Amino acid sequence: MKEIFITGTGFWKPDEIVTNDEIVNSYNAYVDKFNEEFKAEIASGQKSELSYSSSEFIEKASGIKTRYILDKKNVLDPNVMKPTTPAELASNQSLLAEISIIAAKKAMEAAKINASEIDAVIMGTSHSARNYPAIAIEVQEELGIAGYGYDMLVGCSSTTFAISNAFSDISSGLANNVLVINPELTSPANDFTLRDSHFIFGDACVATIVQSQAINDQSFKILNRKLVTQFSNNIRSDFSYMNRTDQLDRDDDELLFRQNGRSVFKEVCPMVVTIINQQLSDMNIDICDIKRLWLHQANGNMISYVAKKLYGDNYDEKLAPMILAEYGNVASAGSVIAFNQTSDDFISGDKGVICSFGAGYSICSLVVEKV
Ligand SMILES: CC(C)(COP(=O)(O)OP(=O)(O)OC[C@H]1O[C@@H](n2cnc3c(N)ncnc32)[C@H](O)[C@@H]1OP(=O)(O)O)[C@@H](O)C(=O)NCCC(=O)NCCS
Repeated sequence: MKEIFITGTGFWKPDEIVTNDEIVNSYNAYVDKFNEEFKAEIASGQKSELSYSSSEFIEKASGIKTRYILDKKNVLDPNVMKPTTPAELASNQSLLAEISIIAAKKAMEAAKINASEIDAVIMGTSHSARNYPAIAIEVQEELGIAGYGYDMLVGCSSTTFAISNAFSDISSGLANNVLVINPELTSPANDFTLRDSHFIFGDACVATIVQSQAINDQSFKILNRKLVTQFSNNIRSDFSYMNRTDQLDRDDDELLFRQNGRSVFKEVCPMVVTIINQQLSDMNIDICDIKRLWLHQANGNMISYVAKKLYGDNYDEKLAPMILAEYGNVASAGSVIAFNQTSDDFISGDKGVICSFGAGYSICSLVVEKV
């Protein structure tokens, strides 16, 4: 069995940060506008009055304090409430390719590898900009990478599933060195007029180099992978090429991200605990020997639930970092950005778990060890 390593990661985020107070003030201005505009319909019971959001609720319910968003001005404008994105045309570089290339170059620099040494590009994301040609092939072309590229969609587990695919491609001999890119431009998919979820997401992109050799002393060997999926409608995005033919005539906004957050919380957290426990037990590794859990960054309460069940109620918060306080939920990019930001103190032999969970449901847990 070949040994396979993560040899470098890099990420991109937008320049502009959005605080909870900023996003709440914008939402509340939208609420005032809505309630005034639909005063008559609200009085007659045809529409429901909207309630204010609050920074206190957001921080308590999610742990999120800020997020980075691509087009802050339009997202916060109560008359717009969505970002404007550049035209996706054959004549332009796509936005997902652009941010992937920035993250990829950083990951390649960290791994000390050139484009000519890479054999494949795998793009995983929760929302792709188009069906084809693959974003991965566009990035491959732009970076001058030979070999092959393909896109895959696995909701919030797209990054870890893509790393797992890179592992499989390397073990089977298809490739030696793989670039995994995970652009998560969440803001175009987020309905900023929904009180339950207007605050959750941030934009980001992460890239990972997966190789058959540990070419630098920053590398982490992938010791084990565990992938589990279980169908659920509790997190859905219904954008589809069939929207134009399904005769439902739904607004674009109705097709955006929707979730039943409470159910997700209750159903997914115990699954994650069981999967990590099973995986470590199968590997004869005690949780005390896991120096860090780089968990999916959707919600601080979910992270502390999982960490408490695994390490015990009084666990040290450094064991399960919460980069979501700054970045928000950056969909599938979160666990690997957490790994990127908080793995520098690892020494040879230290072990950690990168574990994503989200829509599908989809869960992927990777046990890694510093070389
Ligand atoms: C979404 C989430 C943050 C909501 O937190 P929660 O504690 O479950 O909150 P609830 O939705 O139960 O709402 C609790 C109360 O706060 C209110 N509330 C909801 N949004 C609010 C807001 N923005 N501001 C103020 N109050 C709000 C609700 O109306 C509700 O009031 P009620 O008790 O009077 O009915 C949380 O459920 C979550 O993160 N779940 C997992 C999400 C996830 O992982 N998704 C994956 C996506 S990748």
